[in-house]
Amino acid sequence: MTVGILTISDKGAAGERVDESGKLIREMILPLGAKIVKYAIVPDEREEISRRLIDMADKLRCDLILTTGGTGLGPRDVTPEATKDVIDREIPGFGETMRAESLKFTPFGLLSRATAGTRNNSLIINLPGSPKAVRECLSAILPAVPHGVGLLKGEDKECGQKR
Ligand code: MTE
Repeated sequence: MTVGILTISDKGAAGERVDESGKLIREMILPLGAKIVKYAIVPDEREEISRRLIDMADKLRCDLILTTGGTGLGPRDVTPEATKDVIDREIPGFGETMRAESLKFTPFGLLSRATAGTRNNSLIINLPGSPKAVRECLSAILPAVPHGVGLLKGEDKECGQKR
């Protein structure tokens, strides 16, 4: 599974904050046999985020693209919009699951507008920005990711045999 990680943070992109969330995503997906083919930090700019997603999906052909940050209600939070600009099918279940799981930890969990979808054969998933939120949300959705990627690649066909 080839993976692109995109951290979306004005401070991170300006070198004013260490990207602990991107690092954590990497640590959490490596045990799945993931090969990280691209990692980038961009500011909260809708067009730049979209451009990076397109590059990871169309040029690098990442099976999975994970974003972190920019899913909230801040004036510059535009990650879900930038994601919707480039996906061809939305997958509501990832956001629904993350929000349901997050409420077990914090009432603020409902403030994340994270979404997910497919662009050609790439699965794109938004995660919230803090390392704590990444850990909690990624743990909840990770079990479904390999089968999702397998379906997209046409490798998994017998869903009934999966748990
Ligand atoms: N989800 C979990 N599981 N744990 C958290 O600590 N933080 C919330 C929410 N989701 C949080 C969470 C907060 S405080 C915000 S503002 C939103 O995610 C959006 O975060 P983002 O703008 O960094 O993406």
